[in-house]
Amino acid sequence: MGGGLQTSISGLSSSTTSVASSVFSFTYANGRRYHSDRFHKASYFMPNDEKEQDRLDLFHHLFLSLLGGRLCTAPLDNPHRVLDVGTGTGIWAIDFADEHPQAEVIGTDVSPIQPNWVPPNVQFEVEDMEEEWTYPDNYFDFIHMRSMSGSFIDWDRVIEQAYRKTAPGGYLEYQDYGCEMYLLDGTLLQGESEEHPISTYIHHVATAAEKHGRPLTVAPTIKARMERAGFVDCVARRAIWPVGPWPKDKQLKEIGKWGLLGALDSLLPFAIHLLTREGWLVKDIEELCDKVAKSYAKNYYYTYG
Ligand SMILES: C[S@@+](CC[C@H](N)C(=O)[O-])C[C@H]1O[C@@H](n2cnc3c(N)ncnc32)[C@H](O)[C@@H]1O
Repeated sequence: MGGGLQTSISGLSSSTTSVASSVFSFTYANGRRYHSDRFHKASYFMPNDEKEQDRLDLFHHLFLSLLGGRLCTAPLDNPHRVLDVGTGTGIWAIDFADEHPQAEVIGTDVSPIQPNWVPPNVQFEVEDMEEEWTYPDNYFDFIHMRSMSGSFIDWDRVIEQAYRKTAPGGYLEYQDYGCEMYLLDGTLLQGESEEHPISTYIHHVATAAEKHGRPLTVAPTIKARMERAGFVDCVARRAIWPVGPWPKDKQLKEIGKWGLLGALDSLLPFAIHLLTREGWLVKDIEELCDKVAKSYAKNYYYTYG
């Protein structure tokens, strides 16, 4: 999935990044593996095991499909220093490094789950990006962040740091998908609902994330935060992200098929950490996820990416 992984096989070099072994001291809960608790402040709610890595790579494919195969929309002009904040499996950073051999790409994450064999112009660093960023000011031509909902407490501080570390004329791009769900007639699902269990699910998971201090509904707030930090010419774009193969349009139908797979893969991991913290029993979470999965087969839902 994702052509970049294949093209990166040419010109490989071993990543030389060395990391303290404590970052490999992963924690475990409910049969899933999470990042090391060495990061006292960071408390990311999703696992980092192979199952999660497959999910991240599937979403990479979805984002690319939604952008017509592009890795970003910023009008970049020969970028030399690029940062991917919260790089996950590093798939975006690897693809970007392949497409821009002149660029030095750094991917950071609290989880050292990136491959060792990568293009020579990409490197991965284990960093908690809620801490002070260690790079020089005015350094990066392009900073990229994707799917970071639920990651940070103080989003303004993260975007302000991105502003300081961006070189004059450089760009920051944030991509995400909505935490909300709509019916085909444009109705936004809200609160508990017998008819649409996804509404109940989102209500509880989003509320728990909010209580956890790391909201899931950040995408619509990013443009204003960028402007407040000092970025100019900020643009927000929204595209329909179908969840199910219901669209008539061939390309959207394809996205909807992957969108459904991504939504199904996300149900339990999104809920399990946040809702067990709220006192839910695993069996009740599984039951809700099961209801949502069944309703996906019967209803036409979409969100925005
Ligand atoms: C949903 S994943 C997205 C991964 C990647 N950006 C992508 O789109 O494929 C969010 C990533 O952010 C990382 N993350 C969460 N909190 C972080 C923090 N405080 N500092 C650095 N990375 C963090 C997680 O470990 C995870 O890999």
